Amino acid sequence: MEKVARSVAFSSNKGGVLKTSLAVNVAGALATNGKKTLMIDMDNQGNVATSFGKDPDDIEFTIYDLLTNNPEIKSVQDAVINVSPNLDIIVANDDMAYFEIDVLTDKGNYPNYFNLLKNVIKKFERDYDFIVLDTPPAMGLIAANIFDAVQDVVIPFQPEQYAFRSLVKTVDAITKFRESNSDLKIIDVVPTKVRNTNLHRAFLDAAKNYCKTQQIPFSKLEIRDTVKYGEMTARLSIPITMMDDLSKTLEPYKSVYDDLVHELGYLD
Ligand SMILES: Nc1ncnc2c1ncn2[C@@H]1O[C@H](COP(=O)(O)OP(=O)(O)O)[C@@H](O)[C@H]1O
Ligand SMILES: [Mg+2]
Repeated sequence: MEKVARSVAFSSNKGGVLKTSLAVNVAGALATNGKKTLMIDMDNQGNVATSFGKDPDDIEFTIYDLLTNNPEIKSVQDAVINVSPNLDIIVANDDMAYFEIDVLTDKGNYPNYFNLLKNVIKKFERDYDFIVLDTPPAMGLIAANIFDAVQDVVIPFQPEQYAFRSLVKTVDAITKFRESNSDLKIIDVVPTKVRNTNLHRAFLDAAKNYCKTQQIPFSKLEIRDTVKYGEMTARLSIPITMMDDLSKTLEPYKSVYDDLVHELGYLD
């Protein structure tokens, strides 16, 4: 049988919960371990480009151009940027902020406006082992396109007020999409920015219990809250999972992401 890429989206309707950090580090770890990986940014903030040291506004063609079939694109490869031997990225920029309004005001041109991403992924899925998607913190047309296109969803859970409600809402939304995409499943809920406080423990326990009742895997790992990581990544132009020879103090920030990729079942 011909190989088809496994696709995974990091999704939550909340911002700042480490969607981008998880997505770029998982993509980086997969590529470092020899898996041919395509990373697609669906968020107008363009943080995938910046995570690889690129300015999203300097890039000619983005995911927006592929989704909307920009006639200036001669080949889908025009939007692909190679960043390391096994890793390609398709970036997003501010254009994606207008995607929903542009598509919904021109439905004649986009009769299947839920399937635009699926059609883009089809053009790449035989060339990669994995397609990793970073997503915006919203549940609109972009999320609908993502849930119609991917197999796996990973939900970062930052144990703060309202996070539980957001988790339930995200799970409910994904459950509805299973009617049109039977491959879709939540493969992990990952605690992020965790502090050792009673409040954080209580929020985590509530989320864990809820996931149990829904038969959704809840990660054994947690990404600890640390200013160090934010400061460090701001200076780096590659994800930490692509760096070697890290100091002893930095190594744990990398190994938790490597462990996550194993937990997801993506590496033996
Ligand atoms: N372990 C961590 N603890 C605290 N802050 C972190 C950690 N890892 C990353 N950050 C910072 O948190 C911010 C939000 O992360 P990001 O991955 O962009 O979230 P999202 O994509 O969900 O908006 C970024 O500035 C990032 O550098
Ligand atoms: Mg992000």
